[in-house]
Amino acid sequence: MSDPRLYSTSAARNKDVIAEAFHRVCPAASHVLELASGTGEHAEAILLAKAGLTWHGSDPDDEARASTTARMADLGQAAAEAFDTRVEGWWQAISSPIDTIVSINMIHITSRAGVEGLFQGAAALLPSGGSLFLYGPMSRRGVTEESNQRFDASLKARDPGWGVRDLDDMLQPLGARFGLALDDIERVPANNHVVTFKQVGR
Ligand SMILES: C[S@@+](CC[C@H](N)C(=O)[O-])C[C@H]1O[C@@H](n2cnc3c(N)ncnc32)[C@H](O)[C@@H]1O
Repeated sequence: MSDPRLYSTSAARNKDVIAEAFHRVCPAASHVLELASGTGEHAEAILLAKAGLTWHGSDPDDEARASTTARMADLGQAAAEAFDTRVEGWWQAISSPIDTIVSINMIHITSRAGVEGLFQGAAALLPSGGSLFLYGPMSRRGVTEESNQRFDASLKARDPGWGVRDLDDMLQPLGARFGLALDDIERVPANNHVVTFKQVGR
């Protein structure tokens, strides 16, 4: 059987930045759920950078899931699951304890319902003090770099419901609605942000 591992040029570029940011802003992470694992290269980089994490990868796409599962098997982690944050109650299938939720380059490439579902599921799963870690391009009160404006236009041309999300006008209010407080904001290379929310609603 051929190797199901997929390789992404952008993941090769940003995985070390993301792994470093993850361990810096989520030092207490232990049981991690990743939504939209893609190739699984970010999970692999995060796991290789520090031992001791339990990782639950996921992606609705079959090929992405197979790729992530192959990488996770090598690291003694479980197979990736098929969670899609657009599905109402997607989090109810999860019975293992989760203290950290990761979503990298996903919120711009799903509908608003998918972003809401991510926040709603994170709020339902995370214990007090648990973190939601997001990475990707984001605008601040409608302002972002030209490359992100072009990317936003290309996303909207593919699907009018997609687009670069606004941290102040969309993500922070969504967090507040579901009991997730904005905890940390960092600008990282290539006009991306790392943003962390903390569970304060329970
Ligand atoms: C641009 S890729 C990012 C993959 C990986 N995180 C990365 O940065 O390389 C977007 C991924 O999001 C997944 N995805 C899209 N909508 C989703 C949703 N509503 N819930 C979970 N995953 C979703 C897709 O299947 C795809 O693998």
